[in-house]
Amino acid sequence: WQWIAPRDPSLPPVVFHWLPFVGSAPSYGNDPLKFFFECREKYGDVFTFILFGRKVTVALGPKGNNFVLGGKSVALSAEDAYTHLTTPVFGKDVVYDVPNDVFMEQKKFVKVGLSTENFRAYVGMIEQEVSDFFRRDPSFQVFQKNTTEEWGSFDVLKALSEITILTASRTLQGKEIRQSLDKHFADLYSDLDGGFTPINFLFPNLPLESYRKRDVAHAKMSQFYQDILRKRKEGGSEYEHDMMAALMNQKYRNGRPLADHEIAHIMIALLMAGQHTSSATGSWTLLHLAANPDIAEAVYQEQVEHFGSGDGHFRSMSYDELKKLPVLDSVIRETLRLHPPIHSIMRKVRDEVVVPPSLSAPAEDRSFVVPKGYYVLACPAVSQVDPRIWKNAEEWDPTRWSDPEGAAAKAYTEYNDENGEKIDYGFGLVSKGTESPYQPFGAGRHRCIGEQFAYLQLGTIIATILRHVELRLPGPFPAHNYHTMITLPKEPRIIQYRRRHRE
Ligand code: HEM
Repeated sequence: WQWIAPRDPSLPPVVFHWLPFVGSAPSYGNDPLKFFFECREKYGDVFTFILFGRKVTVALGPKGNNFVLGGKSVALSAEDAYTHLTTPVFGKDVVYDVPNDVFMEQKKFVKVGLSTENFRAYVGMIEQEVSDFFRRDPSFQVFQKNTTEEWGSFDVLKALSEITILTASRTLQGKEIRQSLDKHFADLYSDLDGGFTPINFLFPNLPLESYRKRDVAHAKMSQFYQDILRKRKEGGSEYEHDMMAALMNQKYRNGRPLADHEIAHIMIALLMAGQHTSSATGSWTLLHLAANPDIAEAVYQEQVEHFGSGDGHFRSMSYDELKKLPVLDSVIRETLRLHPPIHSIMRKVRDEVVVPPSLSAPAEDRSFVVPKGYYVLACPAVSQVDPRIWKNAEEWDPTRWSDPEGAAAKAYTEYNDENGEKIDYGFGLVSKGTESPYQPFGAGRHRCIGEQFAYLQLGTIIATILRHVELRLPGPFPAHNYHTMITLPKEPRIIQYRRRHRE
């Protein structure tokens, strides 16, 4: 009887639960944010909950984010937390299947492929893919009738998932992947994706068909990328500006070039890292724009002002121009505040860690210890909607990021440190540090390296869609579905559209 046994005061409080092994899994799994806010009321910013036998210590707020994301990687390990989920999907010898210093070298190699020069080539490609999709996809049949009178409708997540994989493969993934998308690649991707779920995280080895399909798909996909590499090396195909080309030229510090299977597996990892995060963010953004026609109109007018020719036609954006569109930028930034795709960032504790008194039990000036073998969990999604930090925290209000006067007041209330110290998190330019309240891309050594690409991809997709159509939301705004790895909008997520201009 856990509530009778005396509690070791050096350990964080344990969230009350009835079922010993299952613990708080149902409450956490159904709505982690609700669960964390309720636990904060009862236990403070630091508490431990049981998740199918695992002990997970949650640290909330900007200081909690800092504790988990700024922690030393020797003590708090991402690879120990994630490898059983990611290695069967990405493959051997990359990301969390290697010691952290090797992965950090691999992240640097990827950064070479995410260059401004490459990005400049991508905007036009993405515009073209989106426009072609509107002209081709069955869910845009009303658009294809070339009438501005009639409204059609589409499932936003379905459309954005397709547009995201089309545009990522046209750009980063490379020509060969784009050409294979309509064929077997899409099926392989879908089987691989079926092995990247919370169930796979919780139970690494179940005798399920989806696990077998995942393994078969991984082997085939790895071979597929390696065949492309071989052909490229033999000089059989033209390529430029893509990630594979960048990785082929990289060498580890010891002088060894990347092996073919390492390049293949990094490519798979990038595909998985970018697909759901971007398609979910794009979907939430369009849902908000459909629910707020005045803001959608402001995004459209920004396009007209910079790129319109007055007759419903637009010229292409350059990458440098895309980066200077405040309305579009703030719409994406604000969407990521309310709907960060990744709600839980975990590390496994290799060496016991001390939680500083200011975070553990400030009133008693006492430190908790998190023992080896526990997990620690940061949830920036909580600090991103915390009413102690943000004014109108629940409201989707992109103008909070671009209000030139008194913007800090509108963006944040001053966060009141427990020492009475006022912290002004600034406006717009929120710190990317580990103690920021705004961290949709994480922070610290594991911070996302895809942020610029994601903004480029999403910005171009959203702008191109709004150039073509007006949007409206016929039903209520969808709730969050937390049962997938990435927080998605629940069904129904139908948006209605009407063509703006005839061709
Ligand atoms: C890491 C979010 C798009 C590649 C992360 C992390 C977050 C995140 C929260 C930190 C994970 C952790 O600390 O455990 C997002 C969001 C995206 C996005 C919100 C889009 C809206 C992308 C894209 C790519 C990418 C497009 C690739 C092109 C990575 C990589 C890491 C990462 C390589 C590093 C993982 C590590 O060091 O452990 N991302 N991501 N992400 N992301 Fe993204």
